[in-house]
Amino acid sequence: MKGLILCAGRGTRLHPFSYSQPKTLLPVANHPVLHYCISKLCEVGVHDIGIVIHPSQVQIPPLVGNGSQFGATITFIEQEVPLGIAHAVQLAQPFLQDEPFILLLGDNLLMDSLHGLMRAFTSEKSDGVVMLSEVERPQDYGIAEVKKGRLVSVEEKPRQPKSNLAVIGAYLFTPPIFESIATLQPSARGEYEITDAIQSMIDRGYHIAHALAKGKYSDVGTIDRWLEANRWMLAKDLGQTHHIGNRSVVTNCEIVGPVLIGEDCHIENCRLGPYVSIQNGVHLKNCAHIENSILLENSSLMDVAWSVTDSVFGRSSYLRGQSASSSGIFILSDKSSIRIPGVKREDT
Ligand code: G1P
Repeated sequence: MKGLILCAGRGTRLHPFSYSQPKTLLPVANHPVLHYCISKLCEVGVHDIGIVIHPSQVQIPPLVGNGSQFGATITFIEQEVPLGIAHAVQLAQPFLQDEPFILLLGDNLLMDSLHGLMRAFTSEKSDGVVMLSEVERPQDYGIAEVKKGRLVSVEEKPRQPKSNLAVIGAYLFTPPIFESIATLQPSARGEYEITDAIQSMIDRGYHIAHALAKGKYSDVGTIDRWLEANRWMLAKDLGQTHHIGNRSVVTNCEIVGPVLIGEDCHIENCRLGPYVSIQNGVHLKNCAHIENSILLENSSLMDVAWSVTDSVFGRSSYLRGQSASSSGIFILSDKSSIRIPGVKREDT
């Protein structure tokens, strides 16, 4: 069995961070979302993996390499025009050939392993499997209708959803999917929808099984969902503890876990946590409180008297301030900088 991970999407809802990095490389608990996808495939014995990228996403191949760090073999496939998931699968057909394959959306993070998907495939002798999860806003997803335990229909972003069971970014397909894709017309949003291809398989009499995800699931497609995924991954990995990476120096700090600190960081006189992930090379000095935030590589925060929460600091971004305000939310893109002049007590 092969694996296919899709990364070519534009990630517009993750601007400004996805201007400078493909969204699948944005870190959750300091690891790119894409790494979790590769590891999940390897965990179920799928090591021959294709990754669909846009030609401009030149950062992805060096970060993934030939896959040996994961015990996988990686083949990159280019999708020049983002015409949808089904279109990307069609482009990958020469790589996938006649084998069943697992398809993962590279911006989706699953707590569950893919064993449930594999089990539903082998035990039900199905022609495909979709992973389902209950979601709060079904109109934002491909939605499944299950009757008497059987998947009977799927509909992309329905106005009147038939359930709250979303088809999330993990699928298993057999070669008849390619014939279904070949019959598709672009949807209202101009994409070839994988949901329509699945519906076509059901209509052609193929059995598409489903597996219900038990753990958390996040489509890391917006900054709020990125922070949320970061929270649950930190809690899973660290509980209420914290971890300090090699060569990092942390002095006179109060840390409430989970807090993850990367390598070569300098952190002094700060209160951190819970739910803070700090990548390598970050400098923090005299920060009153940082909570529920992501700090990317080499960012610096100095003399910040506010409580900083729900924030993301881009790579090499810089914040310096001394105001007496009580809290702030910052979304700072890579290399951006904010300096707020201090308000001295004697002046007020
Ligand atoms: C895509 C699929 C949708 C699926 C969702 C999962 O939506 O089209 O069926 O439920 O991923 O994240 P998109 O992210 O393209 O809006």
